[in-house]
Amino acid sequence: MCGIVGYFGLREAAPLLIDGLQKLEYRGYDSAGVAISNEEGIKVSKCKGRLANLESKLIETPLKGNVGIGHTRWATHGEPSDVNSHPHSNSKISISVVHNGIIENYLKLREWLISKGYEFLSETDTEVIPNLIDYYYEGNLIEAVMKAVSSMEGSYAIGVICSKEPDKLVAVRKDSPLIVGLGKNESFIASDIPAVLNHTRDIYLLEDKEFVVLTQQGVTLLNEMGEEITKEPYHVTWNADAAEKGGYEDFMLKEIHEQPKAIKDTMASRISLDHDIILDKITITKENLKEIDRIFMVACGTAYHAAVVGKYAIEKLAKIPVEVDIASEFRYREPLITEKSLVIVVSQSGETADTLAVLRDSKKKGARVIAVTNVVGSSVSREADDVLYTWAGPEIAVASTKAYVTQLIAMYIIALHFAALKESLSSEEIYDIKKAMLELPTLAEETLENKDVLQKFADQTYMERDMFFLGRGLDYAVSMEGSLKLKEISYIHSEAYAGGELKHGPIALIEKGTVVIACVTQSYLADKMVSNIKEVVTRGAKVIAIALEGNTDIEKSVDSVIYLPKTLDILTPVLSVIPLQLIAYYVAKQKACDVDKPRNLAKSVTVE
Ligand code: G6P
Repeated sequence: MCGIVGYFGLREAAPLLIDGLQKLEYRGYDSAGVAISNEEGIKVSKCKGRLANLESKLIETPLKGNVGIGHTRWATHGEPSDVNSHPHSNSKISISVVHNGIIENYLKLREWLISKGYEFLSETDTEVIPNLIDYYYEGNLIEAVMKAVSSMEGSYAIGVICSKEPDKLVAVRKDSPLIVGLGKNESFIASDIPAVLNHTRDIYLLEDKEFVVLTQQGVTLLNEMGEEITKEPYHVTWNADAAEKGGYEDFMLKEIHEQPKAIKDTMASRISLDHDIILDKITITKENLKEIDRIFMVACGTAYHAAVVGKYAIEKLAKIPVEVDIASEFRYREPLITEKSLVIVVSQSGETADTLAVLRDSKKKGARVIAVTNVVGSSVSREADDVLYTWAGPEIAVASTKAYVTQLIAMYIIALHFAALKESLSSEEIYDIKKAMLELPTLAEETLENKDVLQKFADQTYMERDMFFLGRGLDYAVSMEGSLKLKEISYIHSEAYAGGELKHGPIALIEKGTVVIACVTQSYLADKMVSNIKEVVTRGAKVIAIALEGNTDIEKSVDSVIYLPKTLDILTPVLSVIPLQLIAYYVAKQKACDVDKPRNLAKSVTVE
């Protein structure tokens, strides 16, 4: 997501911050800024767009000083704009902060600070931080930062400067990366190692709730209680390219591993056991929903597969009829959209031409449109009536992974919200689903541990010309996504079929050695899937099953099984897609394919 850099030393800070931010550009961003401190106070320069815009601004109005913080922002709370860019400051501009992460309780903190007379300029969660620090400031910056973070919930890596203590830069992290670069007579903070590699290879890797104070005397590390701690510096021996991928071989593998966090972030501040679902930019009321007679869910590619899960979820939980379609088909088939329709478009980029066209046509016909997108300020987010952002962070690999699981979370959030408005579920039922959803990040971590079997499966199958994916219900929806992943990055032909359709054609293609990947996570459909598996095994297929822990019976029918931790039937797609992504990944690696940039494909399809 966002990139943070901080400098304390003898050199001019601004060019060093820009250089560091350039090394973090791969993380994706839509605005950038720096704050520099000198004897006259703190000066901030920030703007929307590329770093080059910020550089031009700094050429026009240079900021001088040897202490500073810099930031590249990937918008989550609030559009990409000059005012929402970091650094954020208190109104006196005596405290400036850069932040990476999400402050989950920012609304509460903001209200509380407003009641104490504080004013806010931006829509960001971050702006509460400099104001909180200001509130607690009694002449000791580190103490004020400690008090401020103790009232913050969520994830953060922050860098702080204060005009009353210009000889200091303070930083701290929790669930968001932060490192400290140890130079000669200078030190750095950064969200990732490439930002400091031009200046030093000796770094501290900060742990959660560790504080660091950079001064002319050097670097001091403190624990949560404010006690000084020591740490062995880590000497970096590898190059910047490897570091951008966080030690993973490819962005796709990195993004697959970022899924637990992406799931957590997308639920953050929206789902809690203590309160109703909070949907920042969806203002549909109970009355509005009563007037809606049908929902259309429309998208392309992976986003379409998420929409298929959305149909199941909304129909099951909120009991509203849902039609789901591919945007390029939908827009030309004269769909029966009326003023009573609700259209939900799903798009990672928010710029896909066909999806955008559906949004515009639907609005012309008087329908209300909700956009589910990962990019704040994208075309669909600007043009829709309501928006639900997935907080997956920038996705760099062309094949979508973490965006898909966050789209699934968005589908459940919408379904639950509608169920609550319609009272189609009791509050106990909603509570149970929310509780199971909150466990998903941990279960996704566990699912990621299952790699050996998948790697072995890939070693045995990468020479195949075809593979089949089978499933029923939600398992069919996920099978479509698994099949798409495999063909996108390994170029192996594959098809996903609903188990019940086997006999209507595809079974003719099953012969000795045909590879079948069978998803069997829906308890109420498990027996029927086992019958389908037997039908292909009898004809010589090699079958790997994806099943829930405890379903050991399945072992009798298949060659190997990948077990997933138990969760509610309705939520299994969030977990079952992970082994399918990894199968596609390992098969593609065995075939030496470029997994991040598969041939002929584009990340964002902005033409018809
Ligand atoms: C392209 C991408 C896919 C994506 C699809 C829809 O085909 O390669 O990964 O699922 O577009 O994109 P969107 O940005 O609308 O989700």
